[in-house]
Amino acid sequence: MNKTFKRTLITSALPYANGPVHIGHLAGVYVPADIYARYLRLKGEEVLFIGGSDEHGVPIALKAKAEGLTPQEIVDRYHYIIKKSFEDFGITFDIYSRTSSAIHKETAAGFFRKLYDKGEFLEKTSEQYYDEEAGQFLADRYITGKCPHCGNEKAYGDQCEACGTSLSPLDLINPKSAVSGSVPVLRETKHWFLPLDKHEAWLKKWILEDHKEWKSNVYGQCKSWLDMGLQPRAVSRDLDWGVPVPIEGAAGKVLYVWFDAPVGYISNTIEYSPDDWEKWWKDPETKLIHFIGKDNIVFHCIVFPAMLKADGTYILPENVPANEFLNLEGDKISTSRNWAVWLHEYLENFPGKQDILRYVLTANAPETKDNDFTWKDFQARNNNELVAILGNFVNRAMVLTHKYFDGKIPAISELTDYDKETLAEFAHVKEEVENYLTVFRFRDALKEAMNLARIGNKYLADTEPWKTAKNDLARTATILNISMQITANLAIVFEPFLPFTSAKIKKLINQENLKWADLGSILLLENGHVLHTPELLFEKIDDEVIQEQVQKLEDTKKTNELKENKANPQRPNVSFDDFSKLDIRTGKVLECTKVPKADKLLQFKIDDGLGGRTILSGIAAHYKPEDLTGKNVCFIANLEPRKIKGIVSQGMILSAENADGSLSVIMPEKEVKPGSEVK
Ligand code: 2FM
Ligand code: ZN
Repeated sequence: MNKTFKRTLITSALPYANGPVHIGHLAGVYVPADIYARYLRLKGEEVLFIGGSDEHGVPIALKAKAEGLTPQEIVDRYHYIIKKSFEDFGITFDIYSRTSSAIHKETAAGFFRKLYDKGEFLEKTSEQYYDEEAGQFLADRYITGKCPHCGNEKAYGDQCEACGTSLSPLDLINPKSAVSGSVPVLRETKHWFLPLDKHEAWLKKWILEDHKEWKSNVYGQCKSWLDMGLQPRAVSRDLDWGVPVPIEGAAGKVLYVWFDAPVGYISNTIEYSPDDWEKWWKDPETKLIHFIGKDNIVFHCIVFPAMLKADGTYILPENVPANEFLNLEGDKISTSRNWAVWLHEYLENFPGKQDILRYVLTANAPETKDNDFTWKDFQARNNNELVAILGNFVNRAMVLTHKYFDGKIPAISELTDYDKETLAEFAHVKEEVENYLTVFRFRDALKEAMNLARIGNKYLADTEPWKTAKNDLARTATILNISMQITANLAIVFEPFLPFTSAKIKKLINQENLKWADLGSILLLENGHVLHTPELLFEKIDDEVIQEQVQKLEDTKKTNELKENKANPQRPNVSFDDFSKLDIRTGKVLECTKVPKADKLLQFKIDDGLGGRTILSGIAAHYKPEDLTGKNVCFIANLEPRKIKGIVSQGMILSAENADGSLSVIMPEKEVKPGSEVK
């Protein structure tokens, strides 16, 4: 389609505000969206880039319950963390708002109400599980029971995580409410459905015929949904967290989170620009582009367009360049398993190095298939590409110009054929980068940008201005003029990808005023223009630094394995008589010392109220002797004495073990007399 548009509205998936954001978010959605937005702005186009937090839905309500907080408290915590991470990484949203805002609730409710009034919904009553003890209907995730396929006792009402089968709550054997633990009963409840089947015909034409240019992963997923045939989808839920269904008789019901979230794009536009938001959503001359991850494809290509069409006054997306997933060191990124590189943690470890991550995530973006982030690749791309190619070229051009021409741009005297060849080669870069960016091929676009630095490096290596300087300063001047013009071009071409680096280059060359249209020109720095002092753009990352990150992930893996495998089931019951045989007492630590040649052991001298005793305990990895001296501890007094490392240990000090194997010594909460019995 060669339609021309007046302006571009860019949306990026609203992340759930139930955890911080990680590299997968950045690679899949926000870096590509930001590159695209920056590129269009640089070209002087009219652009609006929308972001925000998705703050409704069952997982947020569940997390709040688990933490004893309100859902609002949960989303307040994460919204600001997420917003700050995006700011820190230079994601240039025009607005980053949230779906718990008043304006969003009003907009989402209004959107629903209009469709309701137009008769665009089906109303259906069905039987759903109700928790009589808690007095509420149960979302699928709130019901657990036995999986009819594999027998897993802890399957959820929407899925069994043991065998991966999608379930409906009615499939579960012996269902139980996760809210109260009681057995739920079936009760009738009314919901509103978007009849997607009625939209199928136009969706088929619109996607399968009119948008063949969509990325193959997106087109393919849409095709398989459409081929299977669309079914009506419920757009309301029985839940107390979300946007209330704005009609009478709908008490206790909210809009389904996937109904309200995409409307968030519209509410954020209204919040940003209350007076002319409609031009962004209703003028056919606006090009609407949704940046999302692959798990959001059906909602953005089928459900949301059906909602927009049902309203009848909105434009539809022109493209939905969804990415696949980024894995981390070979495993799926997972918030609950802490298998992620969190953006705020990355910046604590690599302050000021946002562009390295932006670079690596773009160079290795999961554009057509899932990809893997590894710390080794991160190091290699930094050391071999950013340092050795881009940083090296800019630095050499700057240093040589300072050395031979006092940091002033020297004049070109005469161009050789080789100079002309080089210039001809770099004249293509603009077109190549543009062609790729236009079709959302950000990896290839970045490769082309880097190619410009490669051209520069090769040019310096071939022309050797440090040699010509000995007898032909005019030739050296020409070479360095060209090299500095290439440097100025690098500042332009990298701006969408590496904005912090681009700003640094502009500062170094003392030229802020560069536009996309200037790309390809060799007249960007005038003769005599004064450069600033050279500074390195990037520095090498050592093996130790990378090893630390790898170690951190290995520790996470170990913790997860402990949690997942070292199931710690309750042991068989013992009689009270058996229990009474144990003599557990408190004692005061009089002395605590390390046991020589035994890394794990600490030796305690305990005031046990019985004249004192010695106990050895394997907790040296978790406590320093001085931390425990003077403390009250609990110990088993009548355990048979044992000789360890030549010392007789008369009992056992009690500790609790965390899932990661760390130990915490049990101490009485109040002061007690040594020798007191623990019952
Ligand atoms: O998958 C997600 O993280 C969703 N919160 C994305 C929502 S996108 C849009 F509809 F808001
Ligand atoms: Zn199962």
